[in-house]
Amino acid sequence: MMKGHDKELTMDANGLEGVVVADTELSDVDGERGRLVIRGHDVEQLALQHDFESACALLWSGSLPDAAAHAALRQRLGWARVRAFARLPSLGDALSAADAMDALRAALAHLRVDEVAPSELKLELTATVAVCAAAWSRLRESVEPLAPDPRLGHAADYLRMAGAASAGDGARAAALDAYLVAASDHGMNASTFTARVVASTQSDAVSAIVAAIGALKGPLHGGAPGPVLAMLDAIGTPERAAHWIERQLAAGQRIMGMGHRVYRVRDPRAAVLERAVERLHAAGVRSNRLALARAVEAVAVASLGERRPERRLAANVEFYTAVILDAVGLPQALFSATFAVARVAGWLAHVDEQHARGRLIRPASRYVGPLPEVCEAA
Ligand code: COA
Repeated sequence: MMKGHDKELTMDANGLEGVVVADTELSDVDGERGRLVIRGHDVEQLALQHDFESACALLWSGSLPDAAAHAALRQRLGWARVRAFARLPSLGDALSAADAMDALRAALAHLRVDEVAPSELKLELTATVAVCAAAWSRLRESVEPLAPDPRLGHAADYLRMAGAASAGDGARAAALDAYLVAASDHGMNASTFTARVVASTQSDAVSAIVAAIGALKGPLHGGAPGPVLAMLDAIGTPERAAHWIERQLAAGQRIMGMGHRVYRVRDPRAAVLERAVERLHAAGVRSNRLALARAVEAVAVASLGERRPERRLAANVEFYTAVILDAVGLPQALFSATFAVARVAGWLAHVDEQHARGRLIRPASRYVGPLPEVCEAA
């Protein structure tokens, strides 16, 4: 049987590892040194000193806002949340899905680009993700969604709408801000690539974000923090970590929150989130999972290192995402959706960048199936 033609193609059969698909001014991931730079700022400095609104301004316009611009953006985002909340009744049963990411995907798909002023589209989408995620969480508990408070920052209002913290809980809001900023953009990750592929067809931002949510949902991308928390709960105490991890690896299972496609050292965002949880402790909000997480991380790194000395596997962002989102009071079922609350800022910046580039992303595949039999003329 004949196989495909012999045309020379450059091929990467390994999930496009190391393949550059775009020039970007948005963020840079240095996997060898464990460094993440977002528009010229180290993630540690950005996430521990600035809030989500500042990260949005940085990603969308290229520089951190001054006080007046920050106040204006915070207010506009607040009113966008109010508008998103007013649209909830028109979403039908979208928010009744059992999974938060399914609900987000369905809810976002209701947004019509022609109904939103182009200048407000990023705010509208960013607000809609937070409002719908929080509303889904409330409805799941059979309680009414809470209306936004446009005077609050995005992080504080998200926590309040989700029923996780009161409006005046500055410590939890600051911790969530650190998470939202740290998770706002991260090079050409799978969901960002998805958004850029959709944008490259000159499709609209809503379509790109809906597709990106689908990519983020998977356990190899944004779906890991829930299982990390489940793992910590299953382990229970530091003394049980070694036995539990060994059993898991012997059964051929992966340890959630460990390993990364790009990082060969510890993910710098893991350190940022660990530091943010320490700050929460200092403010009197104690997470009884921090000490356990550190013990499990140490055991997992050692066990994985013994098994695969040539492939260094260390903690990724999701490991401490589980700890911080739990510490601020969000339920496990909302973890992946909260990742979307953060990452939508980066997706939207990438959609703009891709639209400006104006070139269709269209890779090739190599056909390895059969060709039709050649029929000899009678
Ligand atoms: N636990 C155990 N083994 C792991 C592992 C983990 N968390 N991550 C990778 N490995 C192993 C793989 O089994 C593979 O071994 P093999 O060659 O014998 O099959 C080897 O390390 C290389 O893994 P690979 O699948 O090539 O890494 P990747 O770059 O494709 O995957 C992840 C990166 C993130 C998908 C992977 O590390 C993973 O599944 N981690 C757990 C899920 C997670 O935390 N996701 C959040 C990412 S931010």
